[in-house]
Amino acid sequence: MTSEWWRTAAIYQIYPRSFADANGDGMGDLAGITARLADLAELGIDAIWLSPFFTSPQKDAGYDVADYCDVDPLFGTLTDFDAMVEEAHARGIRVIVDLVPNHSSDQHDWFQAALAAPVGSAERARYLFRDGRGENGELPPNNWESVFGGPAWTRVTEADGTPGQWYLHLFDSSQPDFDWTNEEVREEFRRILRFWLDRGVDGFRVDVAHGMIKADGLPDWSPAADAGSMGGGAEAEAVPAPYWGLDGVHEIYRDWRALLDTYPGERILAAEAWVDPLPRVAQWVRPDEMHQAFNFAYLETPWQSDALRRVIDDSIAAFAAVGAPSTWVLSNHDVVRHATRLALTEPNPQGHGVGPRTPGLGDPATGLRRARAATALMLALPGSAYLYQGEELGLPEVIDLQDDARQDPTWFRTNGERYGRDGCRVPLPWTASAPSYGFGPTDAAWLPQPASWASFARDVQRDDPASTLSLYRSLLAARRAHGLASGSLEWPLGETPEVLSFRNGDVVVVANTGSAPVALPAGEVLLASGPLDEASAQLPGDTTVWLRAA
Ligand code: NOJ
Repeated sequence: MTSEWWRTAAIYQIYPRSFADANGDGMGDLAGITARLADLAELGIDAIWLSPFFTSPQKDAGYDVADYCDVDPLFGTLTDFDAMVEEAHARGIRVIVDLVPNHSSDQHDWFQAALAAPVGSAERARYLFRDGRGENGELPPNNWESVFGGPAWTRVTEADGTPGQWYLHLFDSSQPDFDWTNEEVREEFRRILRFWLDRGVDGFRVDVAHGMIKADGLPDWSPAADAGSMGGGAEAEAVPAPYWGLDGVHEIYRDWRALLDTYPGERILAAEAWVDPLPRVAQWVRPDEMHQAFNFAYLETPWQSDALRRVIDDSIAAFAAVGAPSTWVLSNHDVVRHATRLALTEPNPQGHGVGPRTPGLGDPATGLRRARAATALMLALPGSAYLYQGEELGLPEVIDLQDDARQDPTWFRTNGERYGRDGCRVPLPWTASAPSYGFGPTDAAWLPQPASWASFARDVQRDDPASTLSLYRSLLAARRAHGLASGSLEWPLGETPEVLSFRNGDVVVVANTGSAPVALPAGEVLLASGPLDEASAQLPGDTTVWLRAA
């Protein structure tokens, strides 16, 4: 008997470096997470997903892993990890960890051994080393570009001091790509999966789950359009990228699924696969592959009723066609927080980030109102929802980070042309009046927190019924009480421009994506994302309401 918990789960993403710092060094840690699990239980989530906390030189905030089976001292120890899992499980919270199989750190033992080993060796065959083009191999093997900007190849110096081969890195030069046609790589990742499964994790979020297989011969390729920082964009490309979403990746996930299924307790795989359109994403969650795939199409949809209705229908249909639940997400550690993004008045390609020189930043109050309305819409949808730490506080993107505080490799590799993702990664405010707003016991924080953040602190929001935190708590409780995550949608309930309206079980949801008020339908109000004028029966602009169905 299985519960299939993942079909309906509300999953909270913890970005460990910015969640809670127990030892006061300015970097969040596992002990900090354990100490704050009570707050997450109170919020009402079902599972946490932790971004990487493994041994890493932190060139890409931990997505550059040097040892997949250990905790970086910055975050604690394996004992701290075990304590965190035990405490989470005691509170009924499942734990998902991040798996980064496309690339390792250049400090990984295997890559160091590859550098020391000769051309053509077994050590080099675990990665993608190739001879350069040009008379003396001085040109990269092909024209691929790194997702973070600049060439996707770096030339090494051979042991004898001469300029040598090149290695592929779809991301930073500190993140060499593995060669997934090599059985040794496959066996190593089975070992890593077992290591964490044996420690009791409930699943894995799989990083760059669309990138592990590259086309034979590594042919040149130029994207037709800016495909965004994490790739994808297949629909827009006349010639598909020779490294995103190749069929060969699915065989890897079928293998992993079979391995996970040998463990008790419904352990899951969730794909970070930036491909489109949605039916293509659904290939990652066919019955013998992963359980969930992130719905980036939903995240990228503007706050606009027609577009939202289309993406909701397309998502449910695409995932249902393979028997999987849809997922929903509005924010994560790679995108501009939705409290800022939904107010932007100019296009902002994913991964570019925002900063002081970004045009069309929009009005923060509008952003927060829309963010609350968008979350109230999302949490009424059937399927599994992902929340990113801090969105329950209504945190905006931090726009005015000093240039010298920025740490995202995107910033460096584009010489400051793209701000990158630091603005959504600033350490959380817990206590308005404490140093570092209670992020840790000192005033240290690895990215500076804005002076204006006291009003977002969790302690000032906890008992304020109008706060964003109270809204999230009520939404999650009502989502559960009304069984919305396992429900189904019926719509439209009347056609009003800019209004999205549907029924899910005994709840009617009405979202006004316009700026002018519309008539509030009759019925008992269960919840509203902002103040309502019930006396005049108006639903203000940028507001979502849940009503008891007649
Ligand atoms: C996706 C992760 O979410 C992102 O943060 C990271 O930079 C890249 N993959 C590379 O691992």
